[in-house]
Order: sequence, then C-alpha cells, then structure tokens
Amino acid sequence: MADQHPVSPEGSASPAAFALRWEEPPEGPVLVLLDQTRLPAEEVDLLCADVPALVEAIRSLAVRGAPLLGIAGAYGVALAAARGFDVDEAADSLAHARPTAVNLGYGVRRAAAAYHAAVRSGAEAERAAAAALAEARALHREDAEASERMAEHGQALLHELLPAGGFRILTHCNTGSLVSGGEGTALGVVKLVHRSGQLRRLWVDETRPLLQGARLTAYEAAREGMAYTLLSDNAAGSLFSAGEVDAVVIGADRIAADGSVANKVGSYPLAVLARYHHVPFVVVAPTTTVDLDTPDGAAIEVEQRPGYEVTDITIPHVPGAGSEAGAGVPVAPLGTQAHNPAFDVTPPELVTAIVTEDGVVSPVTGDGIVELCARSRSG
Ligand code: MRU
Repeated sequence: MADQHPVSPEGSASPAAFALRWEEPPEGPVLVLLDQTRLPAEEVDLLCADVPALVEAIRSLAVRGAPLLGIAGAYGVALAAARGFDVDEAADSLAHARPTAVNLGYGVRRAAAAYHAAVRSGAEAERAAAAALAEARALHREDAEASERMAEHGQALLHELLPAGGFRILTHCNTGSLVSGGEGTALGVVKLVHRSGQLRRLWVDETRPLLQGARLTAYEAAREGMAYTLLSDNAAGSLFSAGEVDAVVIGADRIAADGSVANKVGSYPLAVLARYHHVPFVVVAPTTTVDLDTPDGAAIEVEQRPGYEVTDITIPHVPGAGSEAGAGVPVAPLGTQAHNPAFDVTPPELVTAIVTEDGVVSPVTGDGIVELCARSRSG
C-alpha cells in the first residue's frame, strides 16, 4: 500500500535529507521515499506501508541506485517485521525486485540476519523488529560515512591523474544524494571537487531511456550551483574528440571479483571512448557493491526492462497514450521490438581505477579487488 504526499517545505534543503526516511505515525511505521519518477518536476513523498508497495517502488525506479537500494531493502525487512508480516517472504521478494545491483540483496540479508539473530536469542516480535530496524539504520549511516570517504579518495585521485587548471568531468546516470545515505558515489566526488573550486564543467549524459542524467543528475547539479551541461548520450564521442573531457567518473551496480563493472547502460561505450582518447575512466562505489561471489562480467545478471521504455519517450510517472500501460509518447511504429538492457558491463582493463571508501584499486585486477575486500572486511 503506497500513498503520496507533497514534500514538506523543510524537505527542499538537500536531497540527502529526504531520499528515504523511516517514520512512525500512529497508524504504524512507514518507509517514506522521495518519488524519483516525479523529479525534477515535483518533490513528492511516496509512503510505503508494506513490502509489496516497496517492491513496486523499486521496480518502477521511484527508489533506485545501488547503495540506496541496499538501504531501502534493509528498511523493507524492518517494515515487514514491525508490521507483523512474514519476514522471510518479505526478504525474498525484496531481494529479487531488481537483479543487478548487488547492494539490494546485501541490505536485505543484513536486516534479516539481525532479525533472526534476535529471534534465536529469545527476543519477542517487537524486539526482533527493533533489531532489524537498528541494522537498517546502521547501514544507512555507514553508507553516508562511505560517501564522505569515497569523495576524499576520489578527489585525491583526480588530482594525481589530471593536470591542475580545472577539471571537466563527464558522468552518466545519477550517483548523488538520490542514491545514497550521504552525498553519493561518483557525484559525491564531483560535489567535493566543485566545493573546492576545482570543477570547470560537469558534462551530464542524459542517460536514455529513463533519463536519470537529465532528470536527476541535472537536478542535483543545479541545486549545488555547479557549472553543468546536459548532452544526449550519443554526443559524448564528439566531446572527447574535441578534447573537452578530462575524466569520466561513474558509479557501479555490481563489481565482479575480476574487477568487471556493471553500471547503467551506456557506461561501457564511454569506457571505450575514454581509452581511445587517453582519458581516465574512474568508477566510484562503496565496498558493498563489490561481489566476490560473481567471478567475472559474464556472470553478472543484467536486468532487461520493458521495450516500451525505448519505443516510447517515457516520462516515468505520466501515464501517456503509449504502446503499453504506463508508457509515454510512442515514437516507433506500433509493434516494434526493442532491446532494453538496464546495464552494461565494462571489463577491468578499460577501468583506470575503482575508488571505494577503503581506498583505490588501480590498476584494476582480480588480485587488487580481493586484497581491497580483505582489507576492508578485516577492519
Ligand atoms: O536503474 P538505476 O537508475 O537504478 O541505475 C543506477 C545506476 O546505474 C547508477 O549509476 C549506479 O547504481 C551507481 S549509483 C551509486
């Protein structure tokens, strides 16, 4: 059961404060999401009072982006426990709501493990639910801290890689406060560079078909007062060739054990362009996005989304006269088949560096990834 409310005036201070929050009104606990399908036109809260509503919000991208999916999944388990639903069933449906971002399953498993540990130690339902909520809150906090550390490592790395004189950074999809407990991953780095006066320009890929760049990154960049310019994805090549891009900085949905990076579709072509033009291609992600159980890029499951997202110009929350329910304005002949993978995979040899909260892996190799995880998980 989901409900919608305009965001309260204090909500407009910073998107970090309201991408997602837990509330306990008299009617029972709810997870409140800033509905990202309605941005930038409207800031509207989406109230999820049960797990099916949250699963639908995840599938429709009302809440999205790898780290935030993990946080939402953990709160979803806490919601099920607090409202007396079957926690294992809830965990299973949340973990499978979208397949590619490994953080989703990670967050769900953490909260479910905390719940079960409490039950095993004899806690009654209320205390077990409180344990799941505490774990979700801990993950939320840790992600905010990880954002801060990634931004510092990322900024230092860019200073090593690039000559002084102002950075022109190209990014893809949305990786800021809207996907994180803090300032974000790749966009968190860009914000720090901007705040220290080093950003000359942020090139924002529009990110077809669902326009996370045009709708969400531009929204965050505008609120930050950054010098940013939006481009259609296929205009990136000519920008590189004109020497207008100093670095590509993007996020990740899953990093395999060999260093392959799954991220929003369109990332891999940027990596190829960057290599050809000798431009650093930097991936910024928390260690929770690294999945040592996925050996390589071929083993990453890439989400396939409905064809109408491509055959129609889709403004997600506007039900248009499109070729299917919920679609937008059709631009292809009726019945056209579309290929619509939500992500692509960049091989490690095209990635200059992976920046995490626990340090930078460069060159990107399987050994480097395993070493990072060992360091990170031991301390
Ligand atoms: O389909 P989305 O909007 O959830 O995809 C998000 C991305 O691809 C982001 O780049 C990725 O999650 C990294 S955000 C830290």
